[in-house]
Amino acid sequence: MGTEADQGHLQLAPESFLSTDLINEIQREGIDSGRRTLIRGAIAAATAAIAVPSVRAADDPDIVNLPSWTRSLGKPVVANPYGQPSPFEANIVRRQSPGLTRTDQSSVSFTPLQNLFGMITPSGLHFERHHQGWVDIDPRRHRLMINGLVKTPLVFTMEELLRMPSVSRIHFLECGANTGLEWGNVAVPTVQYTHGMLSASEFTGVPVSLLLERAGIDRQRAKVLLAEGADGSSMTRTINLENALDDALVAYGQNGEMLRPENGYPLRLVVPGVQGVSWVKWLRRLEVGDEPWATKDEAAHYVDMMPDGTHRQYTSIQEAKSVITAPSGGQKLLKHGYYSVTGLAWSGRGTVEKVEVSVDGGRNWRPARVEGPVLPKALTRFQYDWVWQGEETLLQSRVTDSTGYAQPSRAELIGVRGTRSIYHNNAIQTWRVGSDGEVHNVQLG
Ligand code: MTE
Repeated sequence: MGTEADQGHLQLAPESFLSTDLINEIQREGIDSGRRTLIRGAIAAATAAIAVPSVRAADDPDIVNLPSWTRSLGKPVVANPYGQPSPFEANIVRRQSPGLTRTDQSSVSFTPLQNLFGMITPSGLHFERHHQGWVDIDPRRHRLMINGLVKTPLVFTMEELLRMPSVSRIHFLECGANTGLEWGNVAVPTVQYTHGMLSASEFTGVPVSLLLERAGIDRQRAKVLLAEGADGSSMTRTINLENALDDALVAYGQNGEMLRPENGYPLRLVVPGVQGVSWVKWLRRLEVGDEPWATKDEAAHYVDMMPDGTHRQYTSIQEAKSVITAPSGGQKLLKHGYYSVTGLAWSGRGTVEKVEVSVDGGRNWRPARVEGPVLPKALTRFQYDWVWQGEETLLQSRVTDSTGYAQPSRAELIGVRGTRSIYHNNAIQTWRVGSDGEVHNVQLG
């Protein structure tokens, strides 16, 4: 599991730029929209104030001495033909959890959510979940077959797919097993491991509906699709026709370039809002059928064990969920004062309607600021103004989606689902900030 050093940018010490009166008021009353305007004004004023250096220039060699990079020639233009992050960001990487690594090939790497901004995951940091390793496919030899209940079975080359009309849309991809370890009494230390089987990209591809129309789908009998991957894991999943015809894509693009090999190059299925296992990578076949196939990955895995011993199958939608990504487990607050608490919210059923934050373990909730654009089945970034004076704090976020569904507490979720499950844990996450500023994962209820 991760150490504190894994967390990369630890929470920076904030500037003490709010007046004592305002800090007291925020602590007493919280921040409603009126105070938000006030605090924005205060921050704007403080930003102007920060322009007056807090460290006297004479004491700071980084201000008075010109650094070597200002006094020398830069690197040549083509030194780095495919851009790479700064070497100072080398710690911000996908990580494996020893507890979840069965073999090097059947494993997961987690996205470092604690270090990311905005709503898009850089392609190189997109989490990976492979059942039998990833493959490097020669796109000239890759084919997509469409068969089953269609008038004319079709086989497409990549070149043919790339010539078809395409759409680009931003969506999250979350593994159904994300946050799975939290069902038990295991409080996984960092948000990378609790929630990092979650990423979001702009995907580009051909709507599945268009391909099925070309093949002449039998509308009377068709109910489901079987998606099959070209890797050695025999990854096959039943997809509801409703989802497939609504917004599913046969995608080749991710964040403006071709998919990365780990994420399915040259072709993957994108089924917005649906759990990750249905997003079949290295996609080679879509078969139209009239009933679910009950393949191994939908009969033996990705089923929900219920408290009464029964199994729930085909629960594929990722329900509304949110998490505070900073401050989060493994980080440390270095100074008292103002912090912008930030995190992500999402729903497989639509858009994020509102996000609320609690600093007292769920007794009181206040609205967070939601950053646009707020897109369906995509990640939405939120922020919350918070002043920390060293008191022990239980930080939580809660999302309500466009259907009116509110993210459940851990106790509410366990009340319905018990603790024997692995999949579809969308409970409210709690981070405890200690008086020493250290942040830990705690399970309430
Ligand atoms: N498709 C194939 N062919 N093989 C796989 O192992 N893993 C599935 C799905 N599609 C998988 C696959 C699972 S369980 C998940 S969560 C997502 O891919 C993960 O996608 P990613 O690796 O791009 O994050």
